[in-house]
Amino acid sequence: MSAVMPPVASPLVIGPHRIWPPVILAPMSGVTNRTMRALYKPFGLGLTVTEFVSSCALQYGNRRTMEMIDQHGIEKPVSTQLWGDDPGVMARAAKVVRECGADIVDINFGCPAPKVTKTQGGSACLKDVDRCEAIMRAVVAAVDCPVTMKMRLGWSEDNLVYIRVAKRAQSAGVKAVTLHARTARQFYKGSADWEHIAALKRAVDIPVIGNGDLDEAHLAVDRMRRSGVDGIMLGRATLGNPWLISQIVDLLEGRDARPLPTQADRLAYAIVHYRAMVDEWGEARAVPQMRRHLALYLRAIPDAAVLRERIMRIERADAVISLLNATIERLRCEALAA
Ligand SMILES: Cc1cc2nc3c(=O)[nH]c(=O)nc-3n(C[C@H](O)[C@H](O)[C@H](O)COP(=O)(O)O)c2cc1C
Repeated sequence: MSAVMPPVASPLVIGPHRIWPPVILAPMSGVTNRTMRALYKPFGLGLTVTEFVSSCALQYGNRRTMEMIDQHGIEKPVSTQLWGDDPGVMARAAKVVRECGADIVDINFGCPAPKVTKTQGGSACLKDVDRCEAIMRAVVAAVDCPVTMKMRLGWSEDNLVYIRVAKRAQSAGVKAVTLHARTARQFYKGSADWEHIAALKRAVDIPVIGNGDLDEAHLAVDRMRRSGVDGIMLGRATLGNPWLISQIVDLLEGRDARPLPTQADRLAYAIVHYRAMVDEWGEARAVPQMRRHLALYLRAIPDAAVLRERIMRIERADAVISLLNATIERLRCEALAA
């Protein structure tokens, strides 16, 4: 693959929104909160999506649920994702998230977690294509903004319904569909099968967004080009590495991918992320939540395991930041000495 490629993409059109670059941050429950979406957007994302929100829980409007749909301070357009199994409840929830600032409402037909599928939500909806359609029609009718949908290939290998569901989506007025190319039964095992993503693109006229295992910039652009998708969605590989987003955008705009930052610079940014989380959520909530992020920001550092171990045991934000600053100092000295 060559380092410089001609622009391979056009803006992703979702209803009235022309989204450039066509690169979307995947919804990730417990991870992509408002702080992270606001911080990662300037790395070049065209669109961010909230973590999934229960349509049932939205009926009660408790504080934790309302925090999840908070879109303030994030550059528009922004999308809010809902899950549920009941068309009427989903429609009411869609109205609420629209009133709370969503420019796009996304429907989750992909979550494989038992706590969701045991109530027939998330990927369990894929067992019943008619119910998927009823949910999509109800949500589309409820809001004056575009509705999108994100799904897996099907519940299991022997019942791959993604093309049928996408065709129903198209006829129901859904404006774009994202495919994470694994079955629900697979959870995260094996690899995402981009041949299915290409097949979906050929099968429908609405924009298709490809998702799954895009963890390197050239690979991402190559998969986008080969499958012909209108957009790509990035999840796990961006955690602790938002620079991947900028590299992909460089390639999409016909430039060389910029180099990744030094380890010291990665940690300096991890401190920015840490401070933003503590400011927004307070120390008691931010410190445990940031452990996962820090483990990923640290992953390229030689003694990462030792550092991670220490961070896991620290409860105070200032002590974590001091440890990170000391590590940055050490890495910079080592780089000078090398
Ligand atoms: C911790 C975590 C939480 C997730 N939560 C959601 C979610 O709330 N809604 C959703 O549609 N997908 C969710 N996903 C799936 C991702 O959006 C994405 O489809 C999946 O990780 C594959 O993309 P990737 O290989 O780029 O990570 C989650 C994934 C992870 C790892």
